[in-house]
Amino acid sequence: MKILVTGGAGYIGIHTVIELQASGHEVVVVDNLVNSKLAALKRAEQISGKEVLFLEADVRNRNAMEQVCQSHRFDCCIHFAGLKAVGESVLQPWKYYDNNLTGTLVLLDVLANNGCKNLIFSSSATVYGNPAIIPVTEACPKGRCTNPYAQSKSMAEQILMDIHKADPEWNIVLLRYFNPIGAHKSGMIGEDPRGIPNNLMPYITQVAVGKLEKLSIFGDDYHTPDGTGVRDYIHVVDLAKGHVKALDSVIGQCGLEVFNLGTGSGYSVLDVVNSFEKVNHVKIAYEIKGRRAGDIAICYSDPGKAERVLGWKAEYGLEDMCRDSWNWQKNNPNGFEDEGKKL
Ligand code: NAD
Ligand code: UFG
Repeated sequence: MKILVTGGAGYIGIHTVIELQASGHEVVVVDNLVNSKLAALKRAEQISGKEVLFLEADVRNRNAMEQVCQSHRFDCCIHFAGLKAVGESVLQPWKYYDNNLTGTLVLLDVLANNGCKNLIFSSSATVYGNPAIIPVTEACPKGRCTNPYAQSKSMAEQILMDIHKADPEWNIVLLRYFNPIGAHKSGMIGEDPRGIPNNLMPYITQVAVGKLEKLSIFGDDYHTPDGTGVRDYIHVVDLAKGHVKALDSVIGQCGLEVFNLGTGSGYSVLDVVNSFEKVNHVKIAYEIKGRRAGDIAICYSDPGKAERVLGWKAEYGLEDMCRDSWNWQKNNPNGFEDEGKKL
């Protein structure tokens, strides 16, 4: 199939591009590089040995999107493009709603005008808020969103549900990711956050590589086995493969479906630190701080539906994730050094 991948230069997008190409799909990436670098695409080409067609454009740019959709007959779009920094979204809500919602609206319109009504959307476990059911099934009601980023994901889901209801020709898969970490086995691509990382694993790897002094652990007084927050960390390559499974198993016939993509296992912050130290033989300095606003105690998935319907199951464990995250960071202490604008 020919797939439009928006946000395909980003962390999850680039790993998915590689898995799509490995499965024989043709890929065109549209990304405005607001949170990624062209070097990621070049490295993906080196890994897969296949060209990645790329257009530097904003998904809100209707003319550019019309042009790309007219030049290619896409069978499906995987829509990763979005802003994702929770703290920034609190400070700049307009920017987040505009980017994540206007972007999705323009994209849907242009896709439909050009005869493509198949979409896989990057949603998030954040839509469950503080989940009412643990492990979280897809039947768990959506929860109260504590920041504009989460709200934008929840609203985009609602928009997609309404559009499917009004026009059942649409096939839409909402993939709710839990906590993606890890990197490609090659060590050539991985997560490359701008500035100081917000998320746990990139913070740990930057402490390990000496760029940051020590990790702050946000709270050790939760009702969890060791008091620190528990999450469902999923290897980014497993996550990428989940998109290929969704594409191959249900797109074209599913109507609207929601899937959790997680491992089903919950690990605490200290579990992650300990596992990272053990497999990589490096010490992570840390101190316990107060709770971070908006954090919840426990969130992990029941990924059973994805296994039953898509035949997808995460294969990697926490130690693999820690090993691969470190392999990426130690080989690329400064992330992607941009190698110029030309592909
Ligand atoms: P990322 O920032 O690495 O990738 C997003 C990509 O989209 C970037 O390359 C960025 O340049 C691009 N982009 C942003 N706005 C754009 C626009 N208007 N037009 C064109 N390109 C644009 O993030 P990621 O971790 O790869 O996340 C991908 C998607 O998955 C996002 O929608 C994110 O909200 C969602 N998600 C991520 C996580 C996570 O923890 N990483 C969890 C749940 C959901
Ligand atoms: N944590 C620390 N110190 C840090 C960073 C994180 O102790 O420096 C803790 C957090 O308190 C939490 C756990 O590590 O208990 C995981 O935190 P992350 O920031 O890595 O991830 P979150 O679960 O808070 O959120 C992430 C994304 C959201 C997404 C959600 C579910 O940031 O956008 O996963 O997919 F919605």
